[in-house]
Amino acid sequence: MPYKAVKGMQDILPPDVYVWQAVEDAARRVFRAFGFHEMRPPVLESTDVFTRSIGESTDIVEKEMYTFQDKGGRSISLRPEGTASVVRAYVEHHLQSEPSPQKYYYMGPMFRYERPQKGRLRQFYQLGAEAFGVAEPGMDAEVISMVWTFLGEVGLGSLSLEVNSIGCRRCRPAYTAALREYFSEKLPLLCPDCQRRHERNPLRIFDCKVPACVELRKGAPRVSDFLCGDCRVHFAALRGYLEDLGIPYRVSPEMVRGLDYYTRTTFELTTERLGAQNAVAAGGRYDRLVKEFGGPDVPAMGFALGVERLVALIREERAVSPPRPELFVACLGQEASREALKMAQALRGQGVWVETGYEGASLKSQLRRADRFGAGLVFIIGEDELARGQVGWKDMARGTSGEVPMGEALRFFKGERDKARVK
Ligand code: HAM
Repeated sequence: MPYKAVKGMQDILPPDVYVWQAVEDAARRVFRAFGFHEMRPPVLESTDVFTRSIGESTDIVEKEMYTFQDKGGRSISLRPEGTASVVRAYVEHHLQSEPSPQKYYYMGPMFRYERPQKGRLRQFYQLGAEAFGVAEPGMDAEVISMVWTFLGEVGLGSLSLEVNSIGCRRCRPAYTAALREYFSEKLPLLCPDCQRRHERNPLRIFDCKVPACVELRKGAPRVSDFLCGDCRVHFAALRGYLEDLGIPYRVSPEMVRGLDYYTRTTFELTTERLGAQNAVAAGGRYDRLVKEFGGPDVPAMGFALGVERLVALIREERAVSPPRPELFVACLGQEASREALKMAQALRGQGVWVETGYEGASLKSQLRRADRFGAGLVFIIGEDELARGQVGWKDMARGTSGEVPMGEALRFFKGERDKARVK
């Protein structure tokens, strides 16, 4: 094999692609019901768009971006996530002048140069949504309930929801200072990455997977003890809404999320069933980012979900049944082949999946093909049938067969299909 897909990138093939399509259809339906419009930003942005928003000291920016110079000498990056691009587009197109709240969703590939493993790819797809213009916790609840509704719609109602509040620019500095102080005595015991994080952004120590660092942070100060009054009220209101909506959750005080733009609410939906890569969806509030991008002072809240991880869970739960042709028209000879093509064309124009045999093949091999396709009904047009103006039919599941006049064939097909649907 001379060529292979690039490491960490995969082809999505049938039958899996039908699960993908079902997921995308469900997302469109649910997001629409919550008033979100689709937005399609480009996959490339100026590198600054990501470094400024996601944060210089995050793993994504430090280690994982696909960054290169284009032919004009500009630093360009493949998007590692969608929020930064949506905020860039929001500011660029003055979308704050649209009726508030402005709600957008997106679907598409993201790129992170991570070590590939089960559930972790270098090109992966996200389904995400961002809502602008509402600072109140009702919007946090709306976004979380949208993810929850969507997961229910695709048959995954049992993921664990973890929520946290990481404070705002008023209360976060005191927390960051307390963290820095707590870790300063333990500095030599931290991994080199965390030693750097200690200096630049101690919150990021919570992203570390090195066992010694995980152990050392067990006694670290908790953000919940540092929240200001407004952040406390906000978080309590969100929890109240989740309880009203019957959405079970757990408060997870260590969940700070691996991106710098968050303020107040953060959340993750996880499962035990995916191994180490257990987060299926995640998000939170980012009330400062629009302003930092040179836009107005507009609060925002959003989430993104990893489609590969979701599809893996769905595949574990149920088998995929790819679509099958509704009719296979077998034909023998040139003349019959013409009739078959005309018949197929009439039905394909109405959105019916029809396969035909091709003139050279024997009836036996055509029927074998029809069977492998799983076609429900087969029409047979041979020279003999043609001369008598008849079409032979065969119901593959029931093993019944017969003939209908050529002019009746399409009506006959529809009648059989309706009967099969009623069953
Ligand atoms: P994130 O937690 O970096 O958040 O990614 C969201 C989801 O994308 C993860 O929970 C996971 O399912 C999936 N994901 C991330 N990296 C990979 C990977 N290498 N391979 C497969 N799946 C992956 C964000 O991206 C934020 N933009 C979410 C957000 C939107 N916050 C506010 N608005």
